[in-house]
Amino acid sequence: RFLMFIDQFNRRFSYLRLSVTDVCNFKCSYCLPQGYQRPEQALQFLTLDEIQKLVITFAKAGTSKIRITGGEPTLRRDIEAIIALCAEPLEVKTVAMTTNGYRLAKHVNSWQQAGLSRINISIDSFDERLFNQITGTKRFGKVMDGIEAALSCDLTVKLNTVLMKTYNFVQFDRTLERLRDWPVELRYIELMETLEQRQLFESEHISGQRLKLFLQQRGWTMLPQARDAGPAQVFSHPDYRGKVGLIMPYEHDFCAGCNRLRISAVGKLHLCLFGESGHDLRPYLQQDGIQPLADAISHALRDKQSGHHLLERNPGQTIHLASVGG
Ligand code: GTP
Ligand code: 5AD
Ligand code: SF4
Repeated sequence: RFLMFIDQFNRRFSYLRLSVTDVCNFKCSYCLPQGYQRPEQALQFLTLDEIQKLVITFAKAGTSKIRITGGEPTLRRDIEAIIALCAEPLEVKTVAMTTNGYRLAKHVNSWQQAGLSRINISIDSFDERLFNQITGTKRFGKVMDGIEAALSCDLTVKLNTVLMKTYNFVQFDRTLERLRDWPVELRYIELMETLEQRQLFESEHISGQRLKLFLQQRGWTMLPQARDAGPAQVFSHPDYRGKVGLIMPYEHDFCAGCNRLRISAVGKLHLCLFGESGHDLRPYLQQDGIQPLADAISHALRDKQSGHHLLERNPGQTIHLASVGG
């Protein structure tokens, strides 16, 4: 076992977000409003062999949780094999996936058998018309079926809603009612500015603090946060079975507890969602053994900044989050 991945600010990285494709079949207005556009010089996505090498290397360096992301990860035909590869090392205790829910109802059982234990599903509105408008699809029913299917397995399910003024903040009270009997954690993620949707950001961004105040006024209280719990603040209420999570990347200390590294679908290491172009790991994926790869990652980690630059309204090179894996 070699040294853990750690940066100059003493942050330890035990959580890998592994993007396996940047293709998506939805057109979410805050992410891929025109839908997925294949780049002219499209690179091949990580192969199973490359994924296996990455997974083993990260596991040896202290990674205990891997989240498979995209694009939409379930569009890969070999997604079940990818899950199994991630679940293989003993060091990896949790294999999670973030999905738009489109293929969930049909496949969630086999993914669970392959080793998946947690799933986060994007749902930006519970109003069918608004959902279809935000995602540019007509798949509300399918996604809701997927959520029910995931809940009926023994998976830990979280729902992700990107907080937007007109699409869901105005309906917040009504949405909360769903949580009375629904045992899920519904997480609101503050809209982040990317290069492709500056206008949407201008008109729809709203601070998570507004939502927090709203919750507190209605008797919701914040649960104590475990040290390595990730960025969400979680709220509960004695009259509700569900919980509400809040991810507020514009808070000043948001990055202090950063515990994650990202690999893009074409094998770049991203030290942050924002502000950098990534370090190409592909050359090391072709070499024998895992030491060169581990050394390259440790070396790159010296560049990791203390935080992002979103407050200066600088998304760096991030055209949309699907390109970095969210
Ligand atoms: P858990 O593992 O269940 O805590 O989920 P997670 O929040 O780590 O993963 P998920 O893919 O559900 O993340 C939801 C969204 O939160 C991401 O797509 C991002 O938009 C945002 N997010 C997650 N991690 C970070 C982060 O490190 N920085 C920023 N700025 N946003 C993040
Ligand atoms: N701001 C906030 N969250 C975003 N996501 C994608 N783009 C953005 C953005 N600009 C997140 C949402 C979505 C997941 C796939 O990625 O959580 O559910
Ligand atoms: Fe980590 Fe960057 Fe996210 Fe901050 S914005 S928590 S540094 S990945």
